[in-house]
Amino acid sequence: MEFSYVNPTQIHFGQGKIASISDAIPSNSKVLVIYGGGSIKKNGVYQQVESALANHSWLEFSGVEPNPTMETLDKAVALVKAENIDFILAVGGGSVIDGAKYVAATARYDGAGWDILLGKHNVTDAVAIGAVLTLPATGSESNAASVITRAETQDKLPFFSPAVQPKFAVLDADAMKTLPERQLINGLVDAWVHICEQYLTLPTGAMVQDGYAEALLKNLLVLAEQYDQRETLQWRENLMWTANQALNGLIGAGVPHDWATHMIGHELTALYGVDHARSLAIIQPSLLRNQLAVKKAKLEQLGSNVFALAAGDDLAERTIDAIEAFYHSLNVATQLTEHGGDKTKAVNDVITQLESHNMVKLGEHQAITLTQSREILELAVN
Ligand code: NZQ
Ligand code: ZN
Repeated sequence: MEFSYVNPTQIHFGQGKIASISDAIPSNSKVLVIYGGGSIKKNGVYQQVESALANHSWLEFSGVEPNPTMETLDKAVALVKAENIDFILAVGGGSVIDGAKYVAATARYDGAGWDILLGKHNVTDAVAIGAVLTLPATGSESNAASVITRAETQDKLPFFSPAVQPKFAVLDADAMKTLPERQLINGLVDAWVHICEQYLTLPTGAMVQDGYAEALLKNLLVLAEQYDQRETLQWRENLMWTANQALNGLIGAGVPHDWATHMIGHELTALYGVDHARSLAIIQPSLLRNQLAVKKAKLEQLGSNVFALAAGDDLAERTIDAIEAFYHSLNVATQLTEHGGDKTKAVNDVITQLESHNMVKLGEHQAITLTQSREILELAVN
């Protein structure tokens, strides 16, 4: 185990905490509030932000779409530059927060923003960001990651920089009241897969990371079992905090990571518009079956410690079945159907995109080459 760990995002958790942004954003800042398609105007979040910013100078930029695009975000970059914005407040789900990160970094760079996604520009400076979370799923509110789509070419790529990690994040579960069920379920699934990407690799004996990952996975199983209680504050707050902890860096410190499910899933979203979480549920069971030999020990540990499955030679296989059953219990599909029926073309198209994005050595052993990705897709595409 070897790591440096800090999570510098201050969390303001609880009902009514949106008011705390008044003090969390320096009073002399010029603020740009960035949000999505307007859901925040239907649940009182916008109004609370408005009153919290009563003594600040601020402007707004709306219309950040799910799977945020460079094309839309570049308009916000121009606004930040023209108006000398020095604080960005992202109000929304992962897409809005990721979009704000791209805007914050690109506004402090003279070249094209897409250079960041291509790795041609290493982000070391960005406009300060704060976040008000309305959809627990991605963990973006307190991590350094962002995933941006270039609509024109159907590219969806991540970048990482400590410079874009939010200074603070408000987690008020009342913001979830208007969430469509589809998005609530997406949150459960995305958080689940985030934990798996940092846990389902090879055994390292890291007791803190493994034990906490297992506790978080068990939370998600309980929340799925208690889905009929989703209107309660307790249910919402537990999902909000679990999804945050799933990808705030702690369980991933000093242990191997996978992320192959995410990288292949991103291509399904870019090509077919599959929701992010649902792309993961399509890929992960097939990937685990394909990678069973190298993941066997951790699958067995998960099966026994999280699902309480009995020991046996086929424990790893039964664990994958249990994960798939968990998705099905939430009515989440584990096969791609959005491609329109031509399986051969779909598999070829995804492989072409993976190759063009240099996603040719994925997984904790960098052993998922295009050959394995093709095998996985053959299983995952209906
Ligand atoms: O645009 P609005 O009107 O806000 O509506 C959104 C959107 O339509 C809606 N919504 C959000 N909060 C709501 C609400 N509707 C009603 N009430 C509320 N309280 O939900 C829809 C989806 O929102 P989106 O932000 O796209 O969802 P999510 O949070 O799942 O974010 C997905 C994006 O995050 C990226 C994904 O690739 C995808 O682009 N990811 C980011 C990560 C990171 N930064 O660490 C990691 C993840 O693995 C993921 O890749
Ligand atoms: Zn994810």
